[in-house]
Amino acid sequence: MYLEEIFGLKGKTAVVTGGGRGIGQTIAIGLAKAGAEVVIISRSGAAETVRMIRENGGNAYDLCADVTDEAEVHTAVSEIIKRSGKIDILFNNAGICIHKSTLDASIAEWRSVIDINLTGEYIMAREVGRTMIENGIRGTIVNMASMSGSIVNIPQWQASYNASKAGVIHLTKSLAAEWIGYGIRVNSLSPGYIATPMSADVPQELKEAWEPLMPMHRMGKPEELIPAVLYLVSPASGYTTGTDVIVDGGYTCV
Ligand SMILES: NC(=O)c1ccc[n+]([C@@H]2O[C@H](COP(=O)([O-])OP(=O)(O)OC[C@H]3O[C@@H](n4cnc5c(N)ncnc54)[C@H](O)[C@@H]3O)[C@@H](O)[C@H]2O)c1
Repeated sequence: MYLEEIFGLKGKTAVVTGGGRGIGQTIAIGLAKAGAEVVIISRSGAAETVRMIRENGGNAYDLCADVTDEAEVHTAVSEIIKRSGKIDILFNNAGICIHKSTLDASIAEWRSVIDINLTGEYIMAREVGRTMIENGIRGTIVNMASMSGSIVNIPQWQASYNASKAGVIHLTKSLAAEWIGYGIRVNSLSPGYIATPMSADVPQELKEAWEPLMPMHRMGKPEELIPAVLYLVSPASGYTTGTDVIVDGGYTCV
């Protein structure tokens, strides 16, 4: 009962971007289990995530939008307001990573990472924040950052990703300060290495190089992020805003 009171999400509508697979899919399922209606925004639909949530007795639907496209995001968010009446929670998750040294990466690659990871989160937060303010919703936004926003990963080079995630952490603080007067809380989540399709593409020798650098000598599982997200989106974190929550198995403390 007490846990339900502080962590429960009954009656809340939560939007998850990039929820067709990986961390977004797992968090969408976790939010639904905590009682939220979940709307997944993805580029090509998230039928599998919707099916998994409904099979568990939850409530979900999906909409298509590219988070870098202002018009598509506006249309999707307007559709959610029409169907669900309001948005209480945004898990701003969609992102990409390109492993290339600065001298090898093209400017187009730099731009695509910054565009999706930083500008995409800005477009989504702005559009959803506007609906929260207009509807008087004291909502919560969790922006997906990464430990790469605080440290430089080795041995792979990924300057665009690291810079984008450092940007997300400071965007989060900026929005938290700007919207605190509306009762909207904005925090970021910074995972360490998590086993998902994004990291499955990584060559085996790179994963072997990471292993001794991880104090727990293993990658995290997406489900190990759910409790931190539930904390950040629920009344449990009522006095927490502008914070970056690092869930990295101790990577950044050594
Ligand atoms: N996996 C990790 O080790 C790790 C660690 C820290 C942070 N993260 C972050 O977590 C988030 C999810 O990563 P993941 O590992 O689940 O990756 P993933 O590749 O499995 O999932 C990313 C999702 O984002 C979607 N996406 C990409 N560009 C999009 C766009 N323009 N519009 C809409 N959707 C788009 C993809 O289609 C995919 O569904 C990313 O922001 C990533 O940077 C991942």
